[in-house]
Amino acid sequence: MTQSYDVIIIGAGAAGLMCAIEAGKRGRRVWLIDHSAKTAEKIRISGGGRCNFTNMHTRPETFLSDNEHFCKSALKQYTQNDFIKMVQSHGIPYHEKTLGQLFCDESAQQIIDMLLYECAQNGVDYYKETSVESVAYDPSSSAAADGYGATTTRQGGGRYLVKTSNGEADAESLVIATGGLSIPKIGASKFGYDIARQFGLKVTELRPALVPLTFQAALLERCKELSGVSVDAIVSCNGASFAEGLLFTHRGLSGPSILQISSYWREGDEIEINLAAGVDVLLALKDKKKSAAKSEVQTVLAEIVPKRLAVSICADVGIEGRMADLSDKRLEILARAINAWRVKPSGTEGYRTAEVTLGGVDTDGLSSKTMEAKAQKGLYFIGEVVDVTGWLGGFNFQWAWSSGFVAGQNV
Ligand code: FDA
Repeated sequence: MTQSYDVIIIGAGAAGLMCAIEAGKRGRRVWLIDHSAKTAEKIRISGGGRCNFTNMHTRPETFLSDNEHFCKSALKQYTQNDFIKMVQSHGIPYHEKTLGQLFCDESAQQIIDMLLYECAQNGVDYYKETSVESVAYDPSSSAAADGYGATTTRQGGGRYLVKTSNGEADAESLVIATGGLSIPKIGASKFGYDIARQFGLKVTELRPALVPLTFQAALLERCKELSGVSVDAIVSCNGASFAEGLLFTHRGLSGPSILQISSYWREGDEIEINLAAGVDVLLALKDKKKSAAKSEVQTVLAEIVPKRLAVSICADVGIEGRMADLSDKRLEILARAINAWRVKPSGTEGYRTAEVTLGGVDTDGLSSKTMEAKAQKGLYFIGEVVDVTGWLGGFNFQWAWSSGFVAGQNV
C-alpha cells in the first residue's frame, strides 16, 4: 500500500533533519528516510567527536560555488545565531575553539539527540535502514483527487512516488538531502546527483575538498621524516590564502591550512607556504648575522621554526655553517625556503578522507530563496549535495542548517 505524506526527505543528515523539523513545525506530514542504520554519522564523527556545529563569522565569502551569491538568501533566513539559540535552548554546553568555531564541550551526540528530539516533537516519521529503489513523478496526480488525505495540496503540482526497501510512499514535495561523496564507508552515495540528473538538473564538477594533499616521492620522504611537526603557516594558491596550522604527516601535508587550500588547488598548481607566519625571516637572519655571528645557522633557524624543520630546511637548500660565513644571498635562499616555500602536490587523499565534496547540483537550476528546483515543482535539494561548499570551521554544517531550514519553510 502506498503511504501518503506531504513531504518525503531522503537523507537524515544535518540538512535533512533540520528540514524535517521545520516542515513538521508547519504541520506538514513528513517521511524522513535514510539507508544508514545510524543517524547522522557525519555529525557524530565531526570535530573530533565534538562537532564544530557552526562558525560565528559565517558570511557568504566563506563558501565556494559557481554562483557566489546563491548561498546569501538561505544564510540570511537562518543564521549562525539562530542555530546557536537552538543549541542553547537545549542546554548543550559549547565553546569557541578558535576563529569563531563553536564546538560542543562534551559530545557531538548531543547535537544529534537534539535534532532527533525535535523531529519526534514535530511528528516526523523517521525510517532508518531504508534504501530507495526508485523515484518517479506523476504530474497529473494530486492528493485531494486521490483521497490520500495529505494536509494541503499545492496548486498545479503532481506527486512524487518513492519506492523503498521499507515500502512505498508518495508526497507533493521531495527533498534530496543525501550529502556528498566523502567517506563512503559511513553512507555517502552519489544518489543525490543521480536524482538531479533524472529530473534534468545539471551537476557541476565534483572534487574531494578539505582533504590532505599528497606529494611525489622526494617531498613525501621529507614529510615522513618531519611527521608530527606542526607550525603556524600561511598557505596560498589561486588567490586564496589561509593562516592556520600546518602539520607534516607520514602521508604528506595536512592541518587546517592545507585542508582549506585543497578546495582551491587544482592538478598541476603549486602552492606557496609560509612556514613562519608573521616572521620576516630574512630580516631576522640578517639581525642574527650581526648579533650572533658565531652561531650555527641551524641553531638560529630553530628559534624561528621547530628544530627538526630547521635541520631539514638547511639540508634541503644545502646551507650550513656559522652565520658570519653566510652571504646575504645565501640567507635570502634560506628565507625564501621558509617564508615562500613552493611545493607542487601530486594529488589529494580523495573521498576516503575528504571532509566535503566541492561542487554539486548546479545552483542555476535552484531557487536560492526556497531551494526548490526551478523547472521541477516540489523537488528540493539541500545541504552538501548542492554546489555550495564551506571553508573548514563549522561553515558546512551552517550551510546544512540554513538550506534545510529554508526548504522546511517551503515544502
Ligand atoms: P550528510 O552527509 O550529513 O547526510 C547525508 C545523509 O544521507 C546520510 O545520513 C546518508 O546516510 C544519507 N544517504 C546518502 N545516500 C543515501 C541514499 N542513497 N539513500 C538514503 N540515504 C542516503 N562540517 C562542519 O561544519 N564542521 C565540522 O566539524 C565538520 N567535520 C567533519 C568531519 C568529517 C570527518 C567529515 C567527513 C565531514 C565534516 N564536516 C564538518 C562536513 C559536514 O559533515 C557535512 O558538510 C555535512 O554533514 C553535510 O550535511 P548533509 O546533511 O548535506 O549531508
